Order: sequence, then structure tokens, then C-alpha cells
Amino acid sequence: MWIIANWKSNKTIAEALDWLAQAGPKIPKNPNLTVVVCPCFSALSEVKKAIIVGNFPLLVGAQDLSPFGMGAYTGEEPAQILRELITHAILGHSERRQNFGETDEIISQKAAQAKANNITPLICVQGTDILIPQDCELVAFEPISAIGTGNPDTPENANEVAKTLKEKNGQDIQVLYGGSVTADNVQSFLTQSFLSGVMIGKASLDVQEFIKICKKALENI
Ligand code: 13P
Repeated sequence: MWIIANWKSNKTIAEALDWLAQAGPKIPKNPNLTVVVCPCFSALSEVKKAIIVGNFPLLVGAQDLSPFGMGAYTGEEPAQILRELITHAILGHSERRQNFGETDEIISQKAAQAKANNITPLICVQGTDILIPQDCELVAFEPISAIGTGNPDTPENANEVAKTLKEKNGQDIQVLYGGSVTADNVQSFLTQSFLSGVMIGKASLDVQEFIKICKKALENI
């Protein structure tokens, strides 16, 4: 089961370290629970160090990466460098598609860069018609109407979408749900048979709420 914390453009390095100091010792250690925290690029290095020092059961992910390798691409963060810090990268989030004009083609290029560097891409889709790049087996269904609105999709519909995504892209893919997940509703998603976890924005910023979410996830393993 997956719990992904997508902090988006939030938390200074000091705030990130404070969150980790509180959450790290309380995240359940369980071989069937994988918790990934995705801070801003500028906090990745410190977050990674704090996790190693604290021996916390957390992985580190980025929220994006460059479609190119190393070279003359000002401002981009290439997978070849990020690989020292992260195991996962969120790709194709709707906020990037909307605000930064990301297309399926760019997302496929990014996924190829990730895979070539041993980083697992987590492809975000907003419905069942969106292209999932080849060999990408971790997918998050995040309906735009549910993101940051306090108005989540129904667990039943999210489950149906996950089922369809698996039928279309192969039963090996694992589908997560994201959009207004909280400690109060997380179990309703985690009990759906075609869902393998959740991706959390706002509720992951609040350390106590996030710890609660992880504990509830454990009850469903
Ligand atoms: P919220 O949990 O804030 O709705 O955000 C969901 C999301 O976009 C996670 O990637």
C-alpha cells in the first residue's frame, strides 16, 4: 500500500525538517506500507539526510524532473542528478499540465529519463483517456474537481476508474487515488479493491493529520 505526500510548493527547509522530526518516529514500519514524501527540490537534500540519520521508514520523491539529461538546460533538474536523492518522481500532475503546458509527449520524455536513472515515475492522470507512458506501473488518478477542494471523488467511482485503467494499461499497474484525502476519508479509499494507495496534498502538510492517515492505512493492510 502506498501513501504519497505531495507537498507542492510548500514548506521551507526548516519546516520540512520540523515535520520530519515529528512524523519520522511515528510512521508505522510495515513491509506492506510504503510512504513517500515529495518536498520542493530545494529541500530534497536535507530531507533525505534527515531520513537517513533518523532511520525513518520514508522514501523521498520529487514533484517533477527534467525531460532532458545533464547539459545546457537552464533551470531544469535532471534525473541523472536527482537519482542521488530520490526514488520516485511525480510526473504529469494536473497542476503542471494546466500551469506549465505539460503534454503527454513531455511527460513521456520525463518518464523515460526517470526510468533510465532508476527513479520510479508516478504518473498522474485525470481520467481514463490519458496516456500512461510505456512501462510506467505506478499511476495516480486525481480528478481535477477533487484537488484542493475538500470535495473528494466517491471511493466507488475512484475504484471503477482504477479498474478501467488496469483493463486498458495492464493489470500490473498500481493505481492510487488523490484529491481531498483526509484522515477521516482515507479508509474509504484504501478499502477499494482496485486501489493501491493514496496521494495526499493539503492533508500531508499537517503532521498530526498525516500521522493519523498512516496509522489508518496500517489498519487496512
Ligand atoms: P489535495 O489533497 O490538496 O486535494 O491535493 C491532491 C493532490 O493534488 C495530490 O497530488
